[in-house]
Amino acid sequence: MALGESCPAEFSARTVYSGPESLMRRRLGRECLYVPSCRFGLYLALRHWCPPGGRVLMSPVNDDVIFFVVLAAGLRPVQAPLRPYDGSIDLDRVPDSDWRGLSAVLTTNLYGNPDPAPELRARCDRLGIPLIEDAAHAIGSVVGGRPVGGFGDASVFSLSKHVGAKTGGFLAVADPALRTELALARDELLQPSRLRAELAYAVRPYAEAGVRGLRLVRAARAALRVLGQEEREAIRMPLRAGDLKQALAGEPGLSGFHSWVRVDMHDYRLRPGRTRLRRTERLLSGLDARLEAHRAGTRRLLDTVWGGGARDGAEVQPLFRVPLLVEDRDAAVAALARRRITTGYLYDPPLDTYAGEVFTDLSPHPAPAAWFARHALPADPRRADEIIRVLTASGARPAVWDGRG
Ligand SMILES: Cc1ncc(COP(=O)(O)O)c(C=O)c1O
Repeated sequence: MALGESCPAEFSARTVYSGPESLMRRRLGRECLYVPSCRFGLYLALRHWCPPGGRVLMSPVNDDVIFFVVLAAGLRPVQAPLRPYDGSIDLDRVPDSDWRGLSAVLTTNLYGNPDPAPELRARCDRLGIPLIEDAAHAIGSVVGGRPVGGFGDASVFSLSKHVGAKTGGFLAVADPALRTELALARDELLQPSRLRAELAYAVRPYAEAGVRGLRLVRAARAALRVLGQEEREAIRMPLRAGDLKQALAGEPGLSGFHSWVRVDMHDYRLRPGRTRLRRTERLLSGLDARLEAHRAGTRRLLDTVWGGGARDGAEVQPLFRVPLLVEDRDAAVAALARRRITTGYLYDPPLDTYAGEVFTDLSPHPAPAAWFARHALPADPRRADEIIRVLTASGARPAVWDGRG
């Protein structure tokens, strides 16, 4: 078979997905459907639960890819006010005028810090609209005694974060009777697996280890840029307002928005091959140990001067990243980079500043979100000790919210 050809579909989808799905079903206590990425699962959920033309309350401090997923689903993003210390949705500051006319609420659970899911659930029930949880960062987080992802009509997880599979996710649903219908919708949206993509996936961990060992990370990123796989020059991808208006004038769908939605993961809608699923299952079975490492590092980072009020006395979560709050975030990022610690998952500026009112409803209280986006330094808890050493040596000062932004 030539590279680029489809892999043979000789195994039934039900069988190949069942290993990872049953591991996740046991963990969450909900019906779970394997999807090739969290963004794909969110698109599937938004299409299923929200009529095109609807409005979705979401967080402005979020991956821009998710903003484009909402647009691709034919929906208008409505940016919510956030709490300054952890970037969670500030329910009390969402004005009545925003609640009216919403089709859904989409949480973010940024870096693993839960949004107020029990209260959002109650509010959505009163309004008769679905709650959809983006649990990409929050696979081990708990709120109100229940796992994040256990509140929404639908919740979506990414296996590229804590699990480290660099592919895949789960769409978990409250109503197990929806499984067949959603699986059919998923299968219609999947693109055929390609041998080239599977081979690239199989060898990537070895290539990355080699690149790190030889300290060639910068050269590798430049090569990816040349190959068209690295689309970000800055934190936010280029919006391309003219192209976006044109895409919005067409029908909702992934195809029209593909060039935005695929950023950072070109395989986001590819039918997975066996290598991906086997690696995913293996990594997923080691998740508890990973979560414990995240929890231990989170505890250490929150106990520093940069830990801010993120803990609020609550139980420590196994955060995906700990949003340390530092006065000069860019200087801190540079100090870490000099010690070969890369800072990812920065979401600055907030989406309303990035996209503007042509493409989204703006937050009525943007200052706390802007402050959080400017000062949050997403620290990998598994490297807590190194990060604390570098920040201490560089004299990084904590940022303190003064109520004005
Ligand atoms: C908050 C959030 N949601 C969803 C995603 C998308 O996850 P995936 O890459 O699995 O599509 C990301 C990606 O980083 C993210 O940061």
